[in-house]
Amino acid sequence: MGRKFFIKTFGCQMNFNDSERIRGILRTLGYEPARSWEEADLILINTCTIREKPDQKVLSHLGEYRKIKEKNPKALIAVAGCLAQRMGWELVKKAPVIDIMFSSFNMHQLPELINQAQAGYKAIAILEEPPEDEDKVWEFPTERDNPYCAYVTIIKGCDKRCTYCVVPKTRGRERSRSMESILEEVRRLVDEGVREIHLLGQNVTAWGRDLEKPVPFSELLYEISKVDGVERIRFTTGHPKDLTDDIIDAMADIPQVCNALHLPVQSGSDRILSLMDRGYTKEFYLERVEKLKEKVKGIALSTDIIVGFPTETEEDFEETLDVVRKVRYEQIFSFKFSPRPGTPAAEMEGQVPDEVKTERMTRLLELQKGIMSEIAKTYEGTVQEVLVEEARDEGTLVGRTTTNRWVTLEGDRSLLGKIVKVKVKKASPFNLDAELLEVVR
Ligand code: 5AD
Ligand code: SF4
Repeated sequence: MGRKFFIKTFGCQMNFNDSERIRGILRTLGYEPARSWEEADLILINTCTIREKPDQKVLSHLGEYRKIKEKNPKALIAVAGCLAQRMGWELVKKAPVIDIMFSSFNMHQLPELINQAQAGYKAIAILEEPPEDEDKVWEFPTERDNPYCAYVTIIKGCDKRCTYCVVPKTRGRERSRSMESILEEVRRLVDEGVREIHLLGQNVTAWGRDLEKPVPFSELLYEISKVDGVERIRFTTGHPKDLTDDIIDAMADIPQVCNALHLPVQSGSDRILSLMDRGYTKEFYLERVEKLKEKVKGIALSTDIIVGFPTETEEDFEETLDVVRKVRYEQIFSFKFSPRPGTPAAEMEGQVPDEVKTERMTRLLELQKGIMSEIAKTYEGTVQEVLVEEARDEGTLVGRTTTNRWVTLEGDRSLLGKIVKVKVKKASPFNLDAELLEVVR
């Protein structure tokens, strides 16, 4: 019987895309997916360490998965991702069941690491720096669950130094993937039936600057839009400071670029933004948003907000609420500040008590709830283009608008992967109920 793998992924879309690549690597080694971790010969946890909570989740999963060895002593436990990178051997000491561990920049070494672990050695390959042959990883396929929408990582690492963030430590400096390598993957995905390409990076808007011959990100958008069969393009995450006019113009100009952008603001207070070292002011951010709204008609914005950053006062927090009121985001991801070991913000004076963080978070969510239901209402009666992604129960289809809203409609499986026009009958904050008008393409 063939060997089986089970992967548990925490964290961001980058981590999910890395897991898709790891699945591809394991497939080339002859592994098959297991239905549950209890059946696996290789359990891999792809970890996140952005806040304390994901750290704890990883440790509790390790505690559970270790039981696999009682049933199947030859089973291997592997840990990848950002917590592995941050803790290294310290994590192995805490959880000696770990057989394999690697960085996000040496996934391509997984085949050798599995060999080492099977020979009875601990295969720990946490590197300080990305290796020379890092790009080898692109030679492996990805295995995805969604046949129509695919992530494509275009830049790894981050050169920004936001004082709260561990990512520059866990993912290294910025390394842009070459245009040819990206286009090659896009072409391959389209051949496989993919219609929506979602470009990924900690800082996609910085793509191309570090290439031997620098290329602006907007040019990449144009080149991808020229690939026959690409119907939609999304990208995450952009940094407000790098959102240059040429990118906004390209978003307005290229029909395939979706009407949605995730633009993390983090805080509305200039004092806090400066302590965070974000490199922009509230005014600058709002000016970028104005420009986006003016050029890209009907754009849906979403954001990340941290509440309770060290020294945040009531007035600072009010500034954040003010941004939320002015921008009117379609979605907000909000987080209580979580001190991460080794980051400057963790050492700052004036840490905010948890009750205050909770209270501010509640007020932020309350404000956003109102805005979200008001925005949802504006969808009622409108006609939207939807990419049909999934068939749920008998006769129910699910897809997304270009503004990234989930839509439910009636129809049969022959519509899967098609772009259809629908009329929205009923709208709630997280779902639009719609009726099929016609198949566009
Ligand atoms: N505490 C709380 N939230 C954080 N984020 C990043 N680091 C921290 C931290 N130390 C949030 C930011 C980022 C998102 C991915 O996670 O809002 O945009
Ligand atoms: Fe988590 Fe950040 Fe790593 Fe993504 S890059 S997995 S959010 S720590």
